[in-house]
Parts: sequence; structure tokens; C-alpha cells
Amino acid sequence: MKFLTVCLALLALSACQDDKIIKIKFSHIVADNTPKGIGAKRFKQLVEERLKGKVVVEIYPNAQLYDDNKVMEALLLGDVQLAAPSLAKFKKYTKKLQVFDLPFLFKDIHAVDRFQAGEVGQKLLTSMDKYGYLGLTYWHNGMKQLSANTALRIPTDAKGLKFRIQQSDVIQAQFQAVGASPQKLAYTEVYNALQTGVVDGQENTWSNIRSKKFYEVQKYFSETNHGIIDYLIVTNAKFWRGLPADIRIELEKILVEVGKEVNQLAQEIAKKDRQTVIDSGRTKVLQLTADELAQWRTAMQPVWKQFEDDIGKEVIEAANKDNVSR
Ligand code: LMR
Repeated sequence: MKFLTVCLALLALSACQDDKIIKIKFSHIVADNTPKGIGAKRFKQLVEERLKGKVVVEIYPNAQLYDDNKVMEALLLGDVQLAAPSLAKFKKYTKKLQVFDLPFLFKDIHAVDRFQAGEVGQKLLTSMDKYGYLGLTYWHNGMKQLSANTALRIPTDAKGLKFRIQQSDVIQAQFQAVGASPQKLAYTEVYNALQTGVVDGQENTWSNIRSKKFYEVQKYFSETNHGIIDYLIVTNAKFWRGLPADIRIELEKILVEVGKEVNQLAQEIAKKDRQTVIDSGRTKVLQLTADELAQWRTAMQPVWKQFEDDIGKEVIEAANKDNVSR
């Protein structure tokens, strides 16, 4: 009898300790072997090393749990605690983050780095506070490339073609500016849409193009580097601010540390995945001349003005300034 009582007490104690462990569910939509996928796994590893017995992390990649729209609701409901949608997907909650979608705004990923680390970029992290969301940090994926089944060398080549786009009005306007027809579609639907001809083309980064095999169903890629796909690590503000301070601070430190690794890795992955696409022999990667690129820029840049009131002139100017290294 005494033995039984001790056993029951031990069981109760362990259940009690399990209850105290904070569980963080991290949901995202890309493959594991991409910058975001690798970053999520590294985050789990470091958290479970440094906050052992206090925090556990569960990762759900490939939109297994939610797509990028649903995950925002899930954050508020407490069904997941972390998500990392691309910066193109927050328009419902703030118009300011649309700055990241403006075509040809950032000359390369280093300019994006400077802007995100600077005062304006940091302020944007809290731009969704009134909806209950908190941006914790940014992670890179990389520069976007255009593709279609016809060679896209100059803007008129895109005229009349249907392009899959993310849920972004800026990207919509960008394609309308070249006479194309943009279609907002979930990431999980892109391969099929390209394969069945629902759309003729798309834009994405090398890691997404490679990991989701878009190159199998597109005849030509044009290296335009005309925009970026980057991520906001986002959480439920109330949940985050309610965490014990020591744990919250450590988690934030880890996210930033992992972000540095992801950003470094993202450039290597982009290079490697670009080469894999070329070596596959399934598609043709076109390099554009300076004159051809200038034509895309001229055609798409009016979009900046179109969204200036929504985003804020000062935000666009700050981003543009960061093209020059300080
Ligand atoms: C897309 O929808 O194409 C991207 O946002 C996917 C991603 O998360 O990189």
C-alpha cells in the first residue's frame, strides 16, 4: 500500500512537471531543406539545449498544419505559438510591411539586411500590435526570379500571361504594370497550377523553385532578382509577453542568433539550388542584359508611387537609402 502511494505521488509529480513545460508549436509552409525549414529546426535544437526541461518546440513544415492565412488565426487562438509567413502576407494587419514587396527596391540581400537592422525596419516589427501580433525578428530567403513557358527577356514578353502570386496587392500591381494577369494562389497549389496551365508563370526564390520542383513545369527562368521573399517570425503578443522574462529573453536571443545563421545559409542555398535547377536540364535559366533589366525596372517601378500613401514615404525612402552601405 505504501509502495502504491509513493508511485502515485511520483506520477503526479512528473505530470505536474510536464504541465509546467512550455510547448511552442512552430508552423510553416516550406520544405525542411530551405532557409526557413533549416532555421526552424535549428531553433528547436538550441531551445531544447539551452532551455532543457523548460521549453519544447514542435515544428510543422510544408503547410502540414496551416497555410499562411490560417496560421494567423491559429496564433490568436493559441493553436500554434510561432509562424514565419513571408513579408508579403501581412497586408490585412499592416500596410507598412508591403515595403518589402516593392519591385527593384532592394539592390541585393545586403541592402535588405541593413534596412531590417535599422531603426525603421525594427519599428516595423511592432506594426501589427493592435491585432495582437508581435514580430520577433526577420529571416531571409532571397531574391525572386521570374519564370514562364515562354522566354521572358523584356516586360512585353509577359503581356497577357497569367502569373501565380502570393497574397500581395503590391505584387499584383507589379504584374499589372507589365500587362500580365496576376492570380493569388496558396503556395501549396503552385506546382499543380503551373502543371495544368491554370497559370503560365510565377515568381519565387531559388530555394522554393528547387524544393517544390517548379523548374519541372516551367520552360524558362529569367534571373531578374526583382524583389525578395523574406520572413517575419511572428507570435501572439499576449502569449509572448506573458512568458517568464528569463525564458522570453533567451528565446529572443536564440531567434536572432538563428536568424544570423539562416541569413548566411540562405545565400549559399540560393547559389546551390540555382545550380541544381540549371543542372537538371529540365528548364533554361536566362541571364538578362543590363538593358533588358532596366526595362523591367522602368516598367515596374511606378508601383512605388502607387503604394506610397499606404506604406509611408519615409519607410520607402529609408529602404532605398539602405542600398548604399553605411
Ligand atoms: C510563397 O507563397 O511563394 C512563399 O511565401 C513561400 C514561402 O514561405 O517562402
